[in-house]
Amino acid sequence: MMLMQIKNLSVTVNAKAGGKKILDDVSLQISQRSIFALVGGSGSGKSTTGLSILRLLDPGLTISSGEVLFSGRDILKLPPEQLRQVRGKDIAMVFQEPLYAFNPVLPIGRQIEEVFLSHTDFSPQKRTAETLRLLDIVGIKEPRRVYKSYAHQLSGGMRQRAMIAQAVALKPKLIIADEPTSSLDVTLQARIIELFMKLRDDLNLSVLLITHDLGIVEHMADTVAVMNGGQIIETGAVTQVLKNPQHSYTQELLTYAGRT
Ligand SMILES: Nc1ncnc2c1ncn2[C@@H]1O[C@H](COP(=O)(O)OP(=O)(O)OP(=O)(O)O)[C@@H](O)[C@H]1O
Ligand SMILES: [Mg+2]
Repeated sequence: MMLMQIKNLSVTVNAKAGGKKILDDVSLQISQRSIFALVGGSGSGKSTTGLSILRLLDPGLTISSGEVLFSGRDILKLPPEQLRQVRGKDIAMVFQEPLYAFNPVLPIGRQIEEVFLSHTDFSPQKRTAETLRLLDIVGIKEPRRVYKSYAHQLSGGMRQRAMIAQAVALKPKLIIADEPTSSLDVTLQARIIELFMKLRDDLNLSVLLITHDLGIVEHMADTVAVMNGGQIIETGAVTQVLKNPQHSYTQELLTYAGRT
């Protein structure tokens, strides 16, 4: 079953700044309960694609055409209140460096709890209980200690887990994760990737995983799309694309990653 579909999405730099096309007719489909990897070189348009979905683009960029269909609606046309609902509840984002995603002067637990304030009618006790439960779900061993900690007191891996806890708080159907493990060492990367796979299985969600790490793609994703110069040049099942790349650019990516 299809969860989200991007159709013919194009993004340009505003006319005053040159009008350059950054995304050129990007289309992709994400199924329910799947892990969809978006790969490609630096500047190929991966983050722009992820940010477009929730209309979080820099004001210097304009979506010049396309649709982002989610539950039968085009997110690009939603009025502000409905967009807010989709952003908080249906689709969540996880970024590379969660140190900056958290407010340095508020305990982590309080910040995770905030998502319940605007989207549920939970009592304060229930908000705290739910937050402790989420910290447990993402594999944090001492939820109570982490709840009371400040961002700088946690390791990078713990912060990433805390951010993922916040992302899954309202049971989203899709998580957009932009280089979620790039700031972590290799062992921690593997653990976070395993966590995403566990969340897919336990919470029935899908992940749009933006990464340049083909090892992660091979291990974790079911579908992959390869971007170059603002376009998707190749897409398909991971087993198929990595084993038998059709496009010369994909072959190059694999060569540089030492896979061929
Ligand atoms: N606000 C902006 N104004 C002008 N150009 C921009 C803006 N944001 C992004 N770009 C350009 O759009 C292109 C795509 O950028 P994007 O960040 O989507 O690439 P990416 O694939 O995520 O790269 P990376 O792997 O380095 O994160 C790049 O050429 C970038 O310079
Ligand atoms: Mg990027």
